This record gives sequence, C-alpha cells and structure tokens, in this order.
Amino acid sequence: MSRPDVVTTVAELRTRVAAWRRDGARIGMVPTMGALHDGHLSLVEAARGGADRVVVSIFVNPTQFAPTEDLATYPRDLDGDLAKLAGAGVDLVFAPETGEMYPEGAATTVTVGGPAVGLESDARPHFFAGVATVVTKLFAQCLPDVAYFGEKDFQQLAVIRRLTRDLSLPVSVEGRPTVREPDGLAMSSRNVYLNADSRSRAPALYAALTRAAAAIGEGLPSEAAVAAAAADIAAAGFAIDYVEHRDAETLGRPEPGRPGRLLVAARIQEVRLIDNIATPNYRQL
Ligand code: PAF
Repeated sequence: MSRPDVVTTVAELRTRVAAWRRDGARIGMVPTMGALHDGHLSLVEAARGGADRVVVSIFVNPTQFAPTEDLATYPRDLDGDLAKLAGAGVDLVFAPETGEMYPEGAATTVTVGGPAVGLESDARPHFFAGVATVVTKLFAQCLPDVAYFGEKDFQQLAVIRRLTRDLSLPVSVEGRPTVREPDGLAMSSRNVYLNADSRSRAPALYAALTRAAAAIGEGLPSEAAVAAAAADIAAAGFAIDYVEHRDAETLGRPEPGRPGRLLVAARIQEVRLIDNIATPNYRQL
C-alpha cells in the first residue's frame, strides 16, 4: 500500500490544499504529534467520512512542553507513522521542522481562558498556550473545513473549540471518542513509557472512572463518587494530580441537566496519564 505524500513547508501545504479547494473538495485535518496509534487512525477514519481530502499533520510541538517535560524523549518515528497511514486514505502529511512552524523571532502566543483554566493547567501551566498557538497556526496554514481531535484530551478539545469560536476561525471542530486497549486503558503515545508493572495497574484509572460515573447515575452525590474514584486510583499505586467532575462544555461546576464529565490525571512510575468519561444524568455533548 502506498504511503501518503509528505510536505514539510507551509507553501507546499497551501499549494496542495488550494488545488483541492479549486476542485470543490471539503478539506479535513487531523493534527497530531506523531507516534500514531489506533486512536489517531480512528480520527483519520472519521476525517475520511467527513471530508473529501484528508491532511494529517505530524509535529512534536515544543511550545506545549515545559523544560522539565519529555520533549527530547517524546516518541518520534515518521517512517513508522507513514507506514501506519499507508492505505488509510490520507491525501497528505504535513511534517514541518520546528523552524518552519516557529520562524526565528516568532513572538506571538495564543492564550485561552475559560476551559483552559485549572485541571491540566495547574500541573502544566504552559501547556494550553502551546496547544492553542500551534493549532491556530495549523488551521491558518491548512485552512481545513473540519478538524478532528480525540476526547482523551478532553480539556484540550474544549480549549480548541473555544479558541475556534472566539477567534471566528472557519473550522468545524469534531471530537471523537477515546480508543481503548482491550483492558480499558486509553490509547496514548505515552503508554510506551509504562513498564510491565505500571502497565498492569494502568487500567485501574478507567475502571475507577467507570464505577464513579455509574454511581453518579445511581444517584450518589458527585463529591462522594469523586472521592471513591480517587481512593481506588490511589490504591492502584497512582499519585493523583486531580480527579474532578465538571461541566463537559465549560469545564466549570457540573450542573444537573447539562453534560458532565469526570476527568483524571495521575502519575505512575513518573508517567502521567489522563482519562475522562461522560457522566450519566448529564446530557451527552
Ligand atoms: O493532541 C495532540 O497530539 C497535540 O496536543 C496537538 C493537538 C496535535 C497539538 O500539538
């Protein structure tokens, strides 16, 4: 199966997309940092269904990593990624170098309030400005009609929806369900860091969220369900950054009758995992 074409400059990307657009094609984009797994491939499949042409970007974005984080060791395998995309119906891969994305002297950052405040931002204060800046740039570079993101990074999805609305970007943002391993662990490029012991404990995260969401559905108050989930997660050997029940759209306080979400971030063997689940009795987004 043939691999998708790869371009590395914004000029090449624009030329390719402009030609498709002249033919009346609807353009779908799947922004990624590579190290592709089935979760990314499900986004590609959704893009195939929702657009005529599909662009996947692969760029490990330095501005969303703090100096203490894993930028240097983040898994990179462009060749392996292109092999995974062969036959997946991707028309183009945009894989810029850092200098193409952030030219010398780049001095503009997109910062988002609202859903970007708290949760991930408490542990990673730099993170959403990096994500918001690179996603805004990717949208401006590619000008897709629709872009696809996984619900695994639920707060990120809320932030991208908000920035797209606030900046009047003409892109429809589509969230897609988390793809899981058979034991429930959410697929993530960082799962490769888990040793055998941590990997065997990791499904406890989703199991705890599932129990807590079911308990909320049976009428247990949100605070008690969250406390039980936190106890289960700690008992599995995790150090917890947060377990929270929030409104699924604003990420503020959950309100009955509105979509809700339980969200967790926890570390095991210094690997930070995040996950989330919709809560019953709260209308799904
Ligand atoms: O979710 C990711 O892979 C990244 O945060 C994104 C959205 C591609 C921005 O770098």
